[in-house]
Amino acid sequence: MAQCRVGVIGVGTFGINHLRCFRQLGYIGVAQLVAAADINEELLQERNQEFDFAPYTDYEEMLAEQNLDAVTVVTPDPFHREIAIKSAEAGVHVLSEKPLDVTVDGCQQMIDAAEANDVLLMVDFHKRYDEYHIAMKQKLGAGDLGEIEYGYAYMEDRIEVPKDWFAEWAQNSSPAWFLGIHLYDLTRYVMETEPVRVWATGVKKCLLEFGIDSYDSISAKVEFDNGSTVAFDTSWILPYEFEAIVNQGIRLVGTRGLLECDSQDRGTITCCVDEGMMTHNESFLRQRTDKQGREIWEGYGMDSIADFAHNVNVLLDGGSLEDIGDYPAGYDGLQATKLACAVHESVETGGIVEL
Ligand SMILES: NC(=O)c1ccc[n+]([C@@H]2O[C@H](COP(=O)([O-])OP(=O)(O)OC[C@H]3O[C@@H](n4cnc5c(N)ncnc54)[C@H](O)[C@@H]3O)[C@@H](O)[C@H]2O)c1
Repeated sequence: MAQCRVGVIGVGTFGINHLRCFRQLGYIGVAQLVAAADINEELLQERNQEFDFAPYTDYEEMLAEQNLDAVTVVTPDPFHREIAIKSAEAGVHVLSEKPLDVTVDGCQQMIDAAEANDVLLMVDFHKRYDEYHIAMKQKLGAGDLGEIEYGYAYMEDRIEVPKDWFAEWAQNSSPAWFLGIHLYDLTRYVMETEPVRVWATGVKKCLLEFGIDSYDSISAKVEFDNGSTVAFDTSWILPYEFEAIVNQGIRLVGTRGLLECDSQDRGTITCCVDEGMMTHNESFLRQRTDKQGREIWEGYGMDSIADFAHNVNVLLDGGSLEDIGDYPAGYDGLQATKLACAVHESVETGGIVEL
């Protein structure tokens, strides 16, 4: 069984989870974390101390020197495209963080590059790997809810995400790009349907006070081709005092029933002196130590990245894309980006946008 050689491009706030995933896949012979690249040399060295890879400040040098099978792209949203295309042209399989790209053309170029070079292009839509959402899809697929008529999905971050985590690029993003994109993909995926039109509104208030010219919140009403409408509320201005970094959930109502899922509160609540009251989404990322005393991370945040490595190994062992089965592909990234672009167009024009 192949053990893919992987490089991670972008080792910032979320890139560390990719490093964790490939390091621990190395313990069980699934992947090798060979190299990583980041333009921030200080951060790169810091990560290298912890994860022990060949470090590069130029990802193209990494591609040229390391004979990689695969890379994951964990740079800010506007910088996935060029890196993914160059990696595909180097014959390397690609997992891109979401959104695939912030333009429809860009997504198509990435898909074309992957096809032309016969490599896998996957998007890290990890909500598909959440066991609650998997159960939801099964229930819908079994027809238990009948035909979906309407629904509601929300995802709201605490303000520290745009203000403290990535203030330098928050104004090039939005709650729809950063959070909504997950929900746009998830609803398409669980209902097996495509969006047809959208009307959306956006508000800029809180973040402007901190010099960040981005929407605080974006609300969208989307009609799908199964005849249902889903309302999406996304924001990243919850107060520091909120009980979790994110608040999120989804509900769908059909002709034969309803399903409600609190995707944040999985039942663990803590109240500690330094943190106050908190709820924990242990399904996303949780840490443990294995019998050898090594740090292990689990949860759907890891599963989606690990799935990429497994998929690459199938291809390295002579399998085809059809052999991989279901995975969030470039096309799914394109469809989610189409909807996000339409949401922004509607916010800016005030009109209904057809997809
Ligand atoms: N799947 C999720 O739940 C999730 C969560 C957070 C972020 N993300 C996504 O991950 C991506 C990164 O987000 P983040 O929060 O880690 O951002 P970040 O700013 O913390 O990290 C991005 C890193 O990329 C590096 N970088 C920028 N351009 C580069 C280049 N050309 N070559 C190499 N490195 C480069 C930066 O120096 C930085 O270290 C974004 O697309 C974001 O939307 C996904």
